[in-house]
Amino acid sequence: MMTSTMTILLGVSGSIAAYKACELTRELIKRGADVHVLMTPHAVAFVTPMTFQTLSRNPVTVGLFDQIDEWKPEHISLAERAVALVIAPATANVIAKLAHGLADDALTSTALAFNGPVIVAPAMNTGMYRHPATQANLQTLRARGVELVEPEAGELACGTVGVGRLASLAHIMAAVERVTGLGRSAPA
Ligand SMILES: Cc1cc2nc3c(=O)[nH]c(=O)nc-3n(C[C@H](O)[C@H](O)[C@H](O)COP(=O)(O)O)c2cc1C
Repeated sequence: MMTSTMTILLGVSGSIAAYKACELTRELIKRGADVHVLMTPHAVAFVTPMTFQTLSRNPVTVGLFDQIDEWKPEHISLAERAVALVIAPATANVIAKLAHGLADDALTSTALAFNGPVIVAPAMNTGMYRHPATQANLQTLRARGVELVEPEAGELACGTVGVGRLASLAHIMAAVERVTGLGRSAPA
């Protein structure tokens, strides 16, 4: 059985759920993807780039101006060769930036330059999630064709119970498979 080799960008933002993206990276690699992780500077407070570099077997992009050894900026070359951009976990802040086209870090610049399918898995405190601003931003993304993997209800890291917990790995992977066909065997 052949597995496809697809370049998938995994965006990780500054949520307490960032550690769950480590397992997601492993799962994507297991299905045969070439995974490039982009972390926001705030995500680095939760998980180190070295962890993602080791798991993804690729360099990790954090700073917009870090990698200047090639003539083409990293955020443009990654955007050109990827088949999908998965942002998990997506903070309220990153969702707001995506909705409004802000591009002040490597992840959001890449997202703006990227023309392919985008999958966003929000994770945040219930108040942040239910806030009209976040809901309006999510609606903007939905209307734009972004695949949202809805957060789950349950116990949150902030000590409360409610909606906002990152969707399960299985749900995120199902969205990736649906959108990209990753892991499907090639036709004989
Ligand atoms: C311990 C801790 C946990 C946080 N978890 C979340 C979270 O799950 N979701 C979220 O939207 N913001 C969370 N925040 C707030 C974000 O880190 C903050 O809004 C930051 O500006 C996000 O930056 P980024 O979107 O560029 O990664 C958390 C902050 C702290 C200190």
